[in-house]
This record gives sequence, structure tokens and C-alpha cells, in this order.
Amino acid sequence: MTTSLSYYEQVGGAPAVRTVVDGFYVRVLDDADLRPYFAGVDMPRLKRHMVVLLCSVLGGPEPYEGRDLAEAHRGMGITPEHYAKVGEHLLSVLREAGVGDEILQHVVLTLNKVESSIVAEPAETAD
Ligand code: HEM
Repeated sequence: MTTSLSYYEQVGGAPAVRTVVDGFYVRVLDDADLRPYFAGVDMPRLKRHMVVLLCSVLGGPEPYEGRDLAEAHRGMGITPEHYAKVGEHLLSVLREAGVGDEILQHVVLTLNKVESSIVAEPAETAD
């Protein structure tokens, strides 16, 4: 009998995802371009939401109960460049944790899918 492990199981489940998310926010807060976005944010709560979201993206059982991504990031003025940097930090940490290419590809596709919900609309009156 062949059993196929979910991506979630392949990476090592919730404990591994928690380690990745901790490393991810160390990198994000270390990045002078990104740090200002997180001023005054309840980081333990943000990490919990990110862990659960990443677990569910990888096929884990935890239901994501945070806010809709568009709602959570509305009004922050996140630029495409800053979005790309955050994505690179996430992929670097996953790579350093030994996560394989197939799973990295899945994360890249997911990041591409949610980008338009997170990046700010260009201001209508900008000229
Ligand atoms: C790359 C994809 C991203 C994902 C998957 C993601 C995911 C999340 C999640 C799950 C939350 C918590 C939602 C909640 O509180 O219910 C959140 C909040 C937040 N995100 Fe993101 N995020 C992403 C990109 C970014 C980027 C690019 C920035 C800024 C450069 C950013 C800044 C923030 C901040 C500051 C909060 C806290 C909002 C608050 O609690 O008021 N995120 N994000």
C-alpha cells in the first residue's frame, strides 16, 4: 500500500511550521524596509494566525480563523516591492528548513494568488 504524505506532514507538521514562522518574523523585523509596518502590532497573535494559515496552505488540519487577508492588510499601503521581499523571506526560511522544491512551488503559487488581496491599490488620483 502506498500512502502519500501531505505537504504539512512532509515538512514536520505544526511544530516545524511554528519554527519557520518564528524565523520568518525575525527576518521581516530585521528588514528596515518592512519593520515599520509592524510597529505596535501584537506579534504573538500575528504569529499564531500565520502559523495556522501556513499549516492550512500546506494541507494541515487547522482551520484558519484570522481575518480575510484583504481586510487584515487594508490601508497599509503595501507596495509590490515590499510584498516581494516578504515572500522572499518566507521562501528563504522554508528553504533553510529543508523544505523541498515541490512544496516551495506550491507556496510560490499561493503567494502569487493572494498578492492582489494584500498589495495596495494604486491611489486613484496619483499623478
Ligand atoms: C506574503 C503574504 C502574506 C501573508 C500570507 C500574510 C498573512 C497575514 C495574516 C494571517 C495576518 C493576521 C490576520 C489577522 O489578524 O486576522 C496578517 C497581518 C498583518 N500583516 Fe500580513 N501577510 C502577508 C504579507 C504582508 C506584507 C507584505 C506586509 C507588510 C509589508 C504584512 C503586514 C502585516 C501586518 C502589519 C499585520 C498586522 C495587522 C494587525 O494586526 O493590525 N503582511 N498577515
